[in-house]
Amino acid sequence: MSEIQSQYVKKILRGVGTAPVECGEAFAPSNIALCKYWGKRDPVLNLPVNSSLSVSLGKLGTRTAVRFADRNRIELNGKEVSPEDTFAVRILEFLQLFFPMIGNVHFDVRTANNIPTAAGLASSASGFAALVLALDNLMGWGLDRKQLSMLARLGSGSAARSVYDGFVCWHAGTRKDGRDSFAEPISSDWKEFRIGILEISKDWKPVSSRAGMKRTVETSELYRSWPRQAADDLEMLRLAIADKDFPMLGKTAENNALAMHATMLSAWPPLIYWQPETIAQIHRVHQVRSEGLDVYLTIDAGPNLKLLFTEETEKLVKSFFPGLQVICPID
Ligand code: PMV
Repeated sequence: MSEIQSQYVKKILRGVGTAPVECGEAFAPSNIALCKYWGKRDPVLNLPVNSSLSVSLGKLGTRTAVRFADRNRIELNGKEVSPEDTFAVRILEFLQLFFPMIGNVHFDVRTANNIPTAAGLASSASGFAALVLALDNLMGWGLDRKQLSMLARLGSGSAARSVYDGFVCWHAGTRKDGRDSFAEPISSDWKEFRIGILEISKDWKPVSSRAGMKRTVETSELYRSWPRQAADDLEMLRLAIADKDFPMLGKTAENNALAMHATMLSAWPPLIYWQPETIAQIHRVHQVRSEGLDVYLTIDAGPNLKLLFTEETEKLVKSFFPGLQVICPID
């Protein structure tokens, strides 16, 4: 972890009082982007090229408890992970950013996901958001959501959005110091909105989204058109949410996701997160849509599909896609 990151954390925590407790505990929802974050303008502070818009997955996410301990101990889904494991290293390096404020301490971190870890279901988003929220509880800082979003962003970009429920916009910002790059909720009572998770594989993905976006930004000719498309899509999505215009939301989100995958396909070496079954299910969505069912899809840096539909068509969508895990994100 770099000096720049420590300084950034220090600035956010400047003037904040502490009242530590024995254990800090928190839950953060996973989130699915309808307008994707793809590409960094600053990899150290995790500053994105484009603003993004997501919807949080309600009760699906990560629960984390943090305590001070005699040695570092990281537990994932009930099993202790070796401190050398990349998962533990990422968590411990992140926590070290706070050492200038809290001293060189050891942590006991217990974290559990009720979503498949790193299969493109944004577990790093809920993971880092839950970690920051739990640490805030442990230290008794009482940070506001904007500050928490700016801290979670350092762990994983999309974690900036997981500090909120519902629809969320993460502003890319333009400042070099990252102080204007944080997420904000978009108020909506669109209770009929549904997301369905179509799990294709629980496998760990071969290329992290961090590495994938770096490769795409550096080598994909198509990436040049991405920032403009993302900006247009985000505006369309805002309008669609405000008007509860589902076809407009679905079309924009699906096109945005496939455009992101087009930039990946045109990277070198090419990045293909899809499995044969992913493509089969994309065709199936298109088939049932051509028959009149209002269902759309989105895909992140992984093989799984997320289907977008409304309460009205929920029964029918489920009958076409058995095993679909349906979420009502706006409760
Ligand atoms: O936050 P990261 O580094 O895991 O990147 C997330 C990238 C996508 O999931 C593909 C898009 C997004 O906005 O969530």
